[in-house]
Amino acid sequence: MLTDVIEVTDVEKKYVNGKESLHVLDQVSYQVKKGEIVTLLGKSGCGKSTILNMVAGFEKADGGSVMLDGHEVKRPSRKCIMLFQQINLLPWRTVIKNVELGLDGEKIPRVEKKKRIMDALKLVGLENVLHQFPHELSGGMQQRVAIARALAMQPDVILMDEPFAALDTFNRYLLQDELLRIQEKLKTTILLVTHDIDEAVYLSDRILIMSSHPGRIFKDMPIKLAKPRDRAGEDFHHYRKRILEEFELSGSHQEPEYII
Ligand SMILES: Nc1ncnc2c1ncn2[C@@H]1O[C@H](COP(=O)(O)OP(=O)(O)O)[C@@H](O)[C@H]1O
Ligand SMILES: [Mg+2]
Repeated sequence: MLTDVIEVTDVEKKYVNGKESLHVLDQVSYQVKKGEIVTLLGKSGCGKSTILNMVAGFEKADGGSVMLDGHEVKRPSRKCIMLFQQINLLPWRTVIKNVELGLDGEKIPRVEKKKRIMDALKLVGLENVLHQFPHELSGGMQQRVAIARALAMQPDVILMDEPFAALDTFNRYLLQDELLRIQEKLKTTILLVTHDIDEAVYLSDRILIMSSHPGRIFKDMPIKLAKPRDRAGEDFHHYRKRILEEFELSGSHQEPEYII
């Protein structure tokens, strides 16, 4: 039986701003098994990043528990790495040096360090641009460097907060395919956040659909389609439609300027 790598139970979160209190998360519970790709899907402001930040150890819950590999999350750990939409590479460091950054402070022999870095760069197809600087690369390639940096750390879990949102459609599709190829090989557990229904259906083994104000998970939907998936296929469309209907049914309150 597969074990739960991430276990979130009855999590509550409020942000207090002066006299105002914002109830962001209400009784949020879910589990992610080893090797699964699970997506939190919801409208802007429903609390997706807040949940992810709690798993990453950046943010604390007001109630409930967040467990990683059977231990309560108290601080960030190298076993659980976050990838952001804003790619935070150091502009004065080359590709290989940016990837090396992930292993700074780790007590591993030089030869192994080099091997891990090269293996990660090969996995994302960047072995030919080792000595280039970030500004010489496209946005898609820069995000690949960030992925390689995470992979070199050999994490058990990768958390992704809308990691491809800043890319154009073609690069986004390309990187989604790369992510699936890498995950197929390494079986890393991935918890992803997105407001993009297509991205969620394309990548996920399960989608956790969220409602807003306060943020709740109201549906845990397995996507029973073989990978790689056909974005234009009928089955794919069927899931898109079901998810859209779920959002309508959820009746979740949303400010008009926010769109899915
Ligand atoms: N540090 C904070 N202080 C106050 N409010 C916050 C803070 N972080 C997030 N929020 C609010 O909490 C809600 C959920 O935010 P977030 O988790 O970023 O949503 P999402 O990632 O789904 O767009 C939003 O209304 C946001 O404005
Ligand atoms: Mg967010």
